[in-house]
Amino acid sequence: GVDPRLQAISAAIRVVPHFPKQGIMFNDITTLLLRPKVFKDAVEFFLERYRDMGISAVAGIEARGFIFGPSIALAIGAKFIPLQKPKKLPGEVFSEAYELEYGKDRLEMHIGAVQPGDRVLIFDDLIATGGTLCAAMKLIEQAGAEVVECACLIGSPKFKGRYKLNGKPVYVLVECR
Ligand code: PRP
Repeated sequence: GVDPRLQAISAAIRVVPHFPKQGIMFNDITTLLLRPKVFKDAVEFFLERYRDMGISAVAGIEARGFIFGPSIALAIGAKFIPLQKPKKLPGEVFSEAYELEYGKDRLEMHIGAVQPGDRVLIFDDLIATGGTLCAAMKLIEQAGAEVVECACLIGSPKFKGRYKLNGKPVYVLVECR
């Protein structure tokens, strides 16, 4: 059977049809954040997995990767690195363009945030096509650091189990509904 904590995590995510546009089923984690016990259980699942993996940096993707990423980083003694949308970071950046369902976007990371020898966990709330995480991986690798794994709270069924993205494992807690 499924772990009841995972069932509670899944049930705490609100699904909003046709947001932000027609035809999109939006998986809203803000309802999970309102329930401290469920929120804590979600963070704990990631801590159990990453505590002893020698992770030196957690890179979180704007915007919802900033909610879980820092909690995980603090608890495992890693630094936190924000990967941001264009023109948000004031310093010199690496930049990667990627495709969205409609149009393009870009992710940026400060040069010097990670270095060769860093072992990086990339974190986001949700994986759909994987385009965003692929761009994040390229940023980390441009800086000469190693991507150990990508982690998301929510993913479509194909990302459950042993799915890999560009040869790196993707760890997903619950399936999107
Ligand atoms: C959502 C989500 C992921 C991305 C996943 O963010 O938070 O970052 O989509 O999609 P993909 O796997 O197909 O790339 P969104 O692009 O809506 O940006 P936002 O965080 O600014 O809302």
